[in-house]
Amino acid sequence: MTTEPALPVTDAAEDVQGTETHHFRAPVSFVRRGSRLQGRRQQAWDELSDVFVIDVPRVQADTSVDPDYVFDAEAAFGRQAPLVVEIGSGLGEAVTHAAEQNPDKNFLAVEVYLPGLAQTLQRIGQKNLTNVRVVQANAPEVLTTMLPAGSVDELWVFFPDPWHKTRHHKRRMVKDSFAELAARVLVPGGLWRLATDWSDYAVQMREVLDASPHFENLHPGERAGADGPLTQVYAQGLEGKEASNDVDTRGGWAPRFEGRILTSFENKAHQANRLIFDLTYRKA
Ligand SMILES: C[S@@+](CC[C@H](N)C(=O)[O-])C[C@H]1O[C@@H](n2cnc3c(N)ncnc32)[C@H](O)[C@@H]1O
Repeated sequence: MTTEPALPVTDAAEDVQGTETHHFRAPVSFVRRGSRLQGRRQQAWDELSDVFVIDVPRVQADTSVDPDYVFDAEAAFGRQAPLVVEIGSGLGEAVTHAAEQNPDKNFLAVEVYLPGLAQTLQRIGQKNLTNVRVVQANAPEVLTTMLPAGSVDELWVFFPDPWHKTRHHKRRMVKDSFAELAARVLVPGGLWRLATDWSDYAVQMREVLDASPHFENLHPGERAGADGPLTQVYAQGLEGKEASNDVDTRGGWAPRFEGRILTSFENKAHQANRLIFDLTYRKA
């Protein structure tokens, strides 16, 4: 088995590209990366894209979605089944593993990075999956218009780009406006699962979701105090922070979601001694 490089953390790039040419006027949470396919990825794309890639009408950028386009899951999957949507599916490790484990559910992988989608197709082919579709698109556009309101049973956002620098925080995906979009697509009672390996993004996620009238934390107060992951980050001085006696009294961190396979990306976080924060919220 070949080891795949983890995807680059995007705000390592000093000069992020502008969004002026993008019809969707909010700052986007990604930088453009190479889209050239080679070897097995190209082969997977040639052989499988007709069936597994959702062909979205565009407005301008190749990651845009024509706001008049609405996804018809039943037509795309050829059946009615609960729909799980993974935003920022990267190389497709999590979504294809989950699809294999849950043949009774439909999975839609949303990703802007074409080689990642081609890699996902490769996995779909290797595992002979029929219950996954992928779309190359900017997630907020998918949630604003492409997915019908109340059509998603679970929404997953695992390890979104952290955008560390304060001046880049506006590019973070999980913010108030995104929570509104997540609430729009989820069915009542639907779950939003998130994970990150950066404590201050975890805190931002918790703040955004706790403040939203649409969501309730399934693990309120859990993993607070001395043993909780946030207190541990402070106590051990992880992520380059200065060690401190600060205590996270609020908690609210979910146990690790057992349906989330360890991706090469998360593995890198473990190797760098970063802790993982899981959150699970239910749409009211
Ligand atoms: C740090 S990677 C994590 C990938 C994967 N979830 C994992 O755990 O291995 C974040 C991914 O989100 C994708 N992404 C960032 N902004 C996006 C957006 N607005 N729409 C869709 N995908 C996006 C990036 O291209 C990247 O593949």
